Amino acid sequence: MIRSIFLGSGSALPARLVSNAELANTVDTSDDWIRERTGITQRYFAGEGETTATLATAAAARALDNAGLTIADIDLIVLATATPDLTFPATATMVQKALGGAGFPAFDVAAVCSGFLYALGTSDAMIRSGMATKALVIGAETFSRLLDWEDRTTCVLFGDGAGAFVIGASDGSDNDQGILATQLHADGAHCELLYVDGGPSTTGTVGHLRMKGREVFRHAVTNLAQVLGDVLAKAGHTAGEVDWVVPHQANLRILDATARKLGLPMDKVVVTVDRHANTSAASVPLAFDTAWRDGRIKRGQLVILEAMGGGFTWGASLLRV
Ligand code: UT7
Repeated sequence: MIRSIFLGSGSALPARLVSNAELANTVDTSDDWIRERTGITQRYFAGEGETTATLATAAAARALDNAGLTIADIDLIVLATATPDLTFPATATMVQKALGGAGFPAFDVAAVCSGFLYALGTSDAMIRSGMATKALVIGAETFSRLLDWEDRTTCVLFGDGAGAFVIGASDGSDNDQGILATQLHADGAHCELLYVDGGPSTTGTVGHLRMKGREVFRHAVTNLAQVLGDVLAKAGHTAGEVDWVVPHQANLRILDATARKLGLPMDKVVVTVDRHANTSAASVPLAFDTAWRDGRIKRGQLVILEAMGGGFTWGASLLRV
């Protein structure tokens, strides 16, 4: 059976680091409130010349380097974002051009904070079906450009960044390697709890992010615990066998509550929300790359990725690295 094998990862952050204290100069908030309620201490915001496409390109180039490959080896780019450079063309095509690729399919997926899981699931399905052999799977965002700086309940929570995986078809000889199972869900009934109040077909503007945080929090813990259990069962593994959980980084309290529901200690959970804040579709590959490069995540380990976001959308993927 052909599986998608993890070949390498990369990430990129904008140059400008913004501490809670700096935000509190212009927003009616405090370092204490943000730390206590979310675990966030700082985030990075894109500056002039930094866009979703430039961050995605930097992350993708590092992932290719990490995999020991070049763009000439790639035959698919799937990029998850809710903050594309332009309404169209897809940011994936801009990354393709910037890296010097051409001809092969490149497209975006929009599933907000779950976007990387959707992009990974789609790429994995295309590889397993023979439509592609090596894919760049990217999550990249500039959420700072969607924030309402008058709304302290949302503007303190998000940051910008990008992360990327290179995955490729296995030779079919090892069934316990690569992406073992993926589970994706959506429930549009909750779309008014987390959304952006503008778009090309309605207001003709980009709009601002709106969120009923407390309700999203409650759904997140329930949905994530459920999907983690489901993806483990689908792959025939148990929570006790998992070496690392790489969650979507929205709130330290969600990470903690989800780990507790699974019976996993926090020292198996990769936490970057403190440094990156919530980078939406970028958060899972950014967190993964952080732990991959500092040597925590090692070859052969069982890693579970999970995310939940606007829509609602949510999902999880289990892989043997
Ligand atoms: O990535 C997609 C998924 N997103 C999420 O998972 C986010 C989920 N939600 C959350 O992480 C949390 O609900 C928040 C961090 C957004 C909010 O935390 P909370 O503990 O649910 O706070 P709250 O909304 O219940 O607000 C508590 C208080 C309120 O004041 P009162 O009404 O108790 O007087 C808010 O007005 O905190 C106040 N508040 C703030 N105070 C200082 C809200 N935002 C701020 C702020 N600074 N930035």
